[in-house]
Amino acid sequence: MTAEIETLRLDLAERSYDILVGPRLIEAAGRVLLPLMRRRQAVIVSDEIVARRYLAPLRDSLSEAGIAHHTVLMPPGEGTKDLNHFGRLAEQILSAGIERGTMLVALGGGVVGDLTGFAAATLLRGIDFVQIPTTLLAQVDSSVGGKTGINTRIGKNLIGAFYQPRLVLADISVLTSLPRRELLAGYAEIVKYGLIRDAEFFAWLEAEGHSVCALAPDPLRRAVLTSCAMKAEIVAGDEHEEGDRALLNFGHTFGHALETETGFSSRLLHGEAVALGMGLAFDFAAKLGLAAAQDALRVRRHLAASGLPTRLEEIGLAGVPADRLLGHMSRDKKVREGRITLILPRRIGACFVMLDAPIAPLRDFLTAAAA
Ligand SMILES: NC(=O)c1ccc[n+]([C@@H]2O[C@H](COP(=O)([O-])OP(=O)(O)OC[C@H]3O[C@@H](n4cnc5c(N)ncnc54)[C@H](O)[C@@H]3O)[C@@H](O)[C@H]2O)c1
Repeated sequence: MTAEIETLRLDLAERSYDILVGPRLIEAAGRVLLPLMRRRQAVIVSDEIVARRYLAPLRDSLSEAGIAHHTVLMPPGEGTKDLNHFGRLAEQILSAGIERGTMLVALGGGVVGDLTGFAAATLLRGIDFVQIPTTLLAQVDSSVGGKTGINTRIGKNLIGAFYQPRLVLADISVLTSLPRRELLAGYAEIVKYGLIRDAEFFAWLEAEGHSVCALAPDPLRRAVLTSCAMKAEIVAGDEHEEGDRALLNFGHTFGHALETETGFSSRLLHGEAVALGMGLAFDFAAKLGLAAAQDALRVRRHLAASGLPTRLEEIGLAGVPADRLLGHMSRDKKVREGRITLILPRRIGACFVMLDAPIAPLRDFLTAAAA
């Protein structure tokens, strides 16, 4: 393994695993996976777009390591994360003749990762799986931490399991083919880590974020590593989201309301919704006198300078009634007993969970934000 590759450990007793970050990891996958395998058999799950570019090198690498493999391809996009596709995927994996020692390999973005992880959690009551995330969002967020799941008509991610992978290979070379908009959506999640826990990292992003988004290898690797390290530390301390893990939802309650309002369509990507949500959370905290207006401005400036949306009118939601957004927010999964829970900042690098957000000021705030 070259010196450009760095390894982090997510510490969860017997379910601990490594996260490798660096270039050309897909080519090395067979060699890295082999020691973890109970049986030299893998089923690769990917989507058609990712497979076109990265399936062949992964297959070659498994073959070179003497690992038998079978591939199941899914259509790209959020629509694939539903019960129908899950059913088809499960049957295709089972018909490949798997046993408990078979390894599932998720090669793709968060959609493939969430779906494959849920298959691993449930097929034969649990088989091993590894994540090879190919979007920036999946590398810094969804592939780490063991949340797996699928969507239903009632809502997103409502069926799922906490189920940890055996390894994460974040191959930063594959990000060169990622559409710019998808890249920036992933960058929003990187900014999130600075905002919730690490003011120095945020300041570094203010200076170097443009190089991260231009895929300069060293800044990119540092940004992915720092994000994964923070996620790993938070998950190790609170695997099932009973405490600090909720901070990772910063920007998500506002963001989720915007995603619901735009119909979870390509009009607004998840990371873009998170960027807008983080800006709203800072502004609302400033309005309540909990955070400095200066910090809110700094956050907004950085997000906008990075090319992320920061105003509701940019996503066609000017004039959206506050009560509609409040309605979406109160149906969010994180709602407890009908109250709205918000993750709010005290300053850049420090956030907290507000269990019972004051509704009247929130309504006024949202009305002004949409004006
Ligand atoms: N499990 C978690 O903790 C967690 C956290 C955050 C988000 N998520 C989930 O992640 C999903 C979103 O993931 P995503 O943003 O990665 O989207 P995605 O998986 O839909 O990928 C986005 C698009 O990029 C394409 N693509 C992927 N890698 C590529 C590459 N290297 N080059 C070119 N194209 C590439 C895909 O084919 C797809 O069309 C959502 O379903 C969300 O719920 C899960």
